[in-house]
Amino acid sequence: MNRVLVLLIALLLCITSCKTDKSQSNSKTNNRGLMAQKAMVVSARAEASKIGVDILKQGGNAFDAMFATEMALAVVYPYAGNLGGGGFMVYRLNTGEVGSLDYREKAPIAAHKDMYLDEAGNVVKDKSTVGVHAVGIPGTIAGIFAAHKKFGSLPIDVLLKPVIELAQEGFIVTQKQHDKFILYDSIITAVNGKQTMFNKSVAAESLLKNKALAETLKRISKNGRDEFYKGETAKKLINYLQSKGSIITLEDLEKYEAKWRTPIQFNYDNLNIISMAPPSSGGLCLAQIMKMMEPYDIGQYEHNSPEAIQVMVEAEKRAYADRSYYLGDSDFVNIPMKELLDTQYLNERMESFSFENITPSDSISYGIIPNYTMEVSEFANYQEPEETTHYSIVDQFGNAVAVTVTLNSGYGSKLFVEDLGFFLNNEMDDFSSKPGVPNVYGLIGGKANSIAPEKRMLSAMTPTIIEKEGKLFMVLGTPGGSTIITSVLQTILNVHEFEMTMQDAVDAPRLHHQWLPDQIRMEVDLFSEDLKQKLTEKGYFINEEAAPITARVEAILVLDDGSLEGGADYRGDDTAVGF
Ligand code: DON
Repeated sequence: MNRVLVLLIALLLCITSCKTDKSQSNSKTNNRGLMAQKAMVVSARAEASKIGVDILKQGGNAFDAMFATEMALAVVYPYAGNLGGGGFMVYRLNTGEVGSLDYREKAPIAAHKDMYLDEAGNVVKDKSTVGVHAVGIPGTIAGIFAAHKKFGSLPIDVLLKPVIELAQEGFIVTQKQHDKFILYDSIITAVNGKQTMFNKSVAAESLLKNKALAETLKRISKNGRDEFYKGETAKKLINYLQSKGSIITLEDLEKYEAKWRTPIQFNYDNLNIISMAPPSSGGLCLAQIMKMMEPYDIGQYEHNSPEAIQVMVEAEKRAYADRSYYLGDSDFVNIPMKELLDTQYLNERMESFSFENITPSDSISYGIIPNYTMEVSEFANYQEPEETTHYSIVDQFGNAVAVTVTLNSGYGSKLFVEDLGFFLNNEMDDFSSKPGVPNVYGLIGGKANSIAPEKRMLSAMTPTIIEKEGKLFMVLGTPGGSTIITSVLQTILNVHEFEMTMQDAVDAPRLHHQWLPDQIRMEVDLFSEDLKQKLTEKGYFINEEAAPITARVEAILVLDDGSLEGGADYRGDDTAVGF
């Protein structure tokens, strides 16, 4: 064999084994992300992370940085960063106190259960996803102001100054952003009846300014939270919405409140995991899955081996089946939280699990909880407790926040309020329009998540903070619709069970099961043929195409010496900045 041929064969072998290594090894490559000694912000865009860190350097805390980072994302990342959407924040103070804030959108006062059905009772295509009828009452401004009021330390005008400058002076469009502008150009143009400033002719590397958003932010800086819910901005927004035929009124905006919620907390080995409670399903599903997996000690298997995957996806199926039946806005439905998290209940859910064969989804239903009757109210019963993007922050004082915010789909409802400079969400699609009919993420719901006036639609967002032996250990979260919960899960397991660095844990190939449809979704071309064959032989259906995994995890790990490692997802323009 001549030397060139030998070299070619060696190269080919290397390419094949590199691919296999990435998917199946324990990945103990120690490929560390950005390291910092004191503080860090990880978000979907470098500009937003940098603004957050600059606020910290000025002496601000994690909540100040949250305010500025979130608004900066609304400028540079209109795909999901927003004023016209909503989100959830989980925090842990340096004292160990934990809590969470719900600033999820809610249904308009004039909304009703069947609002997306035609006269024959069928779901009207696109009505809950595109255009004015898809919009829920935005919560973002209420959320960041509520967090700031309770914990912030710097004045609002200081926090908004760099953001207003960014909107006024412009930001550089990235290649990935340009690709999205091309992809969404026709639908955004169709919904708005004309091209918006976010269109296919905006080239990569060009400078994009959003003067209207700068003006909106200036008014918010001057007049505070009520500018958005009662002031000139509110009036402009309502005029705009009503000119398009919306049922949303000024009263809807005036009545909007962010809500402090008690987070879900559970133990897994020596970790204490703190995550979002309903109206997000994130924390509860994550807890159910991890508690179902715990007895199987998946760390004994190879990362992404058939055994580890089987335990994970079978637990996922059972949790997503419970989600579809029991979960909705807890102000409207009595969710049996304690029972759903009970160890004996969860162990019983896994009694049908076997390494030999798949448990088909159609043989799995929600679990039975004795003496439970679901009560779904048309009215809220809230008691004060004692395209999505996520960012994670640890400040120099040791406080941490995990925040996931969303417009739902990329650019939300696609409605761009030109005068105000922002897109409006299509979060209404996260309700169950009709029992058993899947939403855009293929998720199925029932009466627990049916539409009612002022109710919050069920979310999968999973902003999460983890303590290890009483100390801050990890801060993470991600966008990705129904794949959010399972992406957060895999990232935690990658660090805790498979001893990966934060960056490797974020980068590792991901897969997903959500009970229905009965399939394992896998990131394309990242899993070996051998693995896929073994799973197929056990009865699993693998889907690498129809339903992509869109999660982009933003995470921070606290190492033993107290230093911070960022995990910024390579799948997007995500960037960690720290000092
Ligand atoms: O709240 C939810 O679960 C969804 N609206 C999240 C949407 C999402 O993550 C889109 N990003 N890829």
